[in-house]
Amino acid sequence: MSFTRRQLLGGLVGLAVVGFGAGGASRYWLGRRDSPVGPVYELIAAPLDLELVAGHQTPAWAFGGTVPGTELRVRQGDWLRVRFVNKLPVPTTIHWHGIRLPLEMDGVPYVSQLPVLPGEYFDYQFRVPDAGSYWYHPHVNSSEQLGRGLVGALIVEEREPTGFKHERTLSLKSWHVDEAGAFTDFSVPREAARGGTAGRLSTINGVPQAIIDLPAGQIVRVRVLNLDNTLTYRLNLPDAEAQIYALDGNPITPRPLGKDYWLGPGMRVCLAIKAPAAGKEISIRNGPVRLGTFRSVANNEAPGAWPRPLPANPIAEPDLASAETLNFNFEWVGSVSVNVENGAPPSLWQINGKAWDITDKTCADRPIAKLVKGKSYIFELKNMTQYQHPIHLHGMSFKVIASDRKAIIPYFTDTYLLGKNERARVALVADNPGIWMFHCHVIDHMETGLMAAIEVS
Ligand code: C2O
Ligand code: CU
Ligand code: CU
Repeated sequence: MSFTRRQLLGGLVGLAVVGFGAGGASRYWLGRRDSPVGPVYELIAAPLDLELVAGHQTPAWAFGGTVPGTELRVRQGDWLRVRFVNKLPVPTTIHWHGIRLPLEMDGVPYVSQLPVLPGEYFDYQFRVPDAGSYWYHPHVNSSEQLGRGLVGALIVEEREPTGFKHERTLSLKSWHVDEAGAFTDFSVPREAARGGTAGRLSTINGVPQAIIDLPAGQIVRVRVLNLDNTLTYRLNLPDAEAQIYALDGNPITPRPLGKDYWLGPGMRVCLAIKAPAAGKEISIRNGPVRLGTFRSVANNEAPGAWPRPLPANPIAEPDLASAETLNFNFEWVGSVSVNVENGAPPSLWQINGKAWDITDKTCADRPIAKLVKGKSYIFELKNMTQYQHPIHLHGMSFKVIASDRKAIIPYFTDTYLLGKNERARVALVADNPGIWMFHCHVIDHMETGLMAAIEVS
């Protein structure tokens, strides 16, 4: 495939600025009337000193001058256009996690596009078919780039009003920093060979122990996004009246949040929370650990009602009767041949006996599976390891249909948290041609082998 760095330039000239984002480095533009409908953003990635630890500076990297990055919003069915400007000292890309889009917009280096070099820009533009909570992040040197803060929410609004009058976005991330705010290693081989290298400072929207105000008595849509490299949050809200309305991008029949929900890296959950009486608080916890607090604030609106379920997204229903089954075994490679001398990461994990090498630009030329466009497939996912893996597919959503560990109410998603030694089945229609990354979203698992390419043609 050949690439031109400025191939999309023509479509974006002559736009009028109508507003200005809070971050200062991110502008919101409105397209000309004859252009495809939807917002146009200018999104700048640049270094940003952050005070994560009081009195100390952390040399973060940020999209749009904030961490997490500018929250991008677009209406379902509209076009999202982002002029991405790289003011970092390193090459990068943007990947749009969970969005079904053309391969050229998927942000995978050497597969979708060339990396965007320091000082260059790239115009991303695509139509967003599905409503829901999505996110964006680089797909280059991911441990460090996501680790330093290059993550942001992408919210696709339903076309019709949903009945929610209030909403909040909570982006979870834990930072690899020490007591003085300095970065620690984003990936350590002995951790990468286990559950992944965890940061030690948890934040919500970039703030440790954040306090988020809710309007007392109202039903609030709360989008919780796990933008962390490593951690699975065991999300719980003791004593809150909370219903799950969507998993990752896709609506489900609302059901109570219950004891906890395991939100793996890359995953999202959309909750409806009934804010308690003014002055009352709800703690937001990961297992027993408090991450932040909702605080109810008096307001003079009439008490809210629980909205109806969200409308389904237009995802093709796989035909299970005709589907071909493909097996994917996720394995740990016992014989760890660490070749740190040449700077290459160790190879620790494999899918069907093959480890992805992030230093080899040709891996995607050898897809692990070739799917026929339009056909239905069942993926049998078998975790042969002692660690859980949030398994993510680019380009298409899949339907989770079965697990040997828990009862599944089938639902569409882009990331499935595959438990230790679990076997699960997911199904999809191979309706998007391209070479799609299929990987664990524990970033240092992905960078030490747990990634593959799936071709649809
Ligand atoms: Cu968030 Cu390759 O993915
Ligand atoms: Cu993705
Ligand atoms: Cu993993």
